Amino acid sequence: MSQTFLMISVGFGFGVGLVRFANSVCTTAANIEGICYRRRQCADINGVASGACANGIGVCCIILRTCSESSSHNGTYFTNAAYPTAVTGSSRCSMEIQKCNSNICQVRIDFLSLVLAQPNATGFCTTDALIITGGGGTVPVICGDNTGQHVYVDFNGDENILMTITTGSASTLGRSWNLKITQIACDCPTRAPAGCLQFYNTTTGTVTSFNYGVGSNIIDATTGLPGTRELVNENYGICVGMLPGYCSIQWTSNGFSVSGIPGGEFDALSNGDCTTDFVVIANPFNPNGVALGTDRFCGTSFNTVVSTLKPFVLYVVTNGDEINDVANSGFSLSFTQQPCTNTAAALLGK
Ligand SMILES: *[C@@H]1O[C@H](CO)[C@@H](O)[C@H](O)[C@H]1NC(C)=O
Ligand SMILES: *[C@@H]1O[C@H](CO)[C@@H](O)[C@H](O)[C@H]1NC(C)=O
Ligand SMILES: *[C@@H]1O[C@H](CO)[C@@H](O)[C@H](O)[C@H]1NC(C)=O
Repeated sequence: MSQTFLMISVGFGFGVGLVRFANSVCTTAANIEGICYRRRQCADINGVASGACANGIGVCCIILRTCSESSSHNGTYFTNAAYPTAVTGSSRCSMEIQKCNSNICQVRIDFLSLVLAQPNATGFCTTDALIITGGGGTVPVICGDNTGQHVYVDFNGDENILMTITTGSASTLGRSWNLKITQIACDCPTRAPAGCLQFYNTTTGTVTSFNYGVGSNIIDATTGLPGTRELVNENYGICVGMLPGYCSIQWTSNGFSVSGIPGGEFDALSNGDCTTDFVVIANPFNPNGVALGTDRFCGTSFNTVVSTLKPFVLYVVTNGDEINDVANSGFSLSFTQQPCTNTAAALLGK
């Protein structure tokens, strides 16, 4: 309808101000997603016009915000002030997210780039930290290397969500960030279930712990001690939306080093391990259908497991001290949803 109006308007030479078009997602020349607005509208909301859209009637408007700013616009980017130039000294930078309308329940924050200092030797984000408040306090404190990660945060009534990044003077490391904020309506089909910190709605994918990477040789700038890549008190759930026709989920390791005790999968009940840092997969089976009899996985290896329990959730638990976890890199696990016909029947031995 708006497209027709656009063509009629152009065809009959109406003033540009009268032309209507949808404020849809557009892509700039630099391949950044913006929203199509009139040039004037884009200027009014402090956006950056970057190329044309709507047959040249609109501009692809990018909404960039930095320290001490706020935004109620869908698709806002939150960067450090001089991004992509790094922050080197001590600083504190907050950006406030306001709902773009009253029917917004959630935001997804994509860490397009997030490079901060490593935690201290005990796993605390004492030099740099990303702290997200106002969403019911569900997001753990995050630091280190987290480019490519994301979080979902539910609005808590009309309270705004505040993202704060602090950087300490102790490190000369260059930090920078570019976080994209997508507002999600309450009735949006892609809304994550409440309480899921991360959410995937695909049949396959890879999930990694925050600050995942090669573990060894990180020296804490303050103490001079070898540090850990694992962060303390990261207690959250990664949810995978069960797609129609799929009945079970298989988890496979690309890298797993979650607690200091080497040796593989531990049974929490029989030998007392998996009490500090671990992941939880409910009622898992070996791919051959034999039940494992434990839900907790820790140590330094992870064999492929399948779970039929719904919803599909991988829980992540770390305790308040990672001093014995030097050189643990965390986990990278891939999931594959399995069609109902194969797995359910096989696992039930039918
Ligand atoms: C890391 O920081 C925490 C919190 O400030 C502190 O309790 C702990 O002692 C520090 N660890 C080291 C090794 O300095
Ligand atoms: C925000 O933008 C995304 C596309 O980037 C879109 O899927 C979503 O529906 C938008 N949210 C609202 C509330 O319009
Ligand atoms: C999964 O989520 C993405 C991003 O929110 C969305 O574009 C896509 O349509 C969703 N797919 C399904 C099957 O729900």
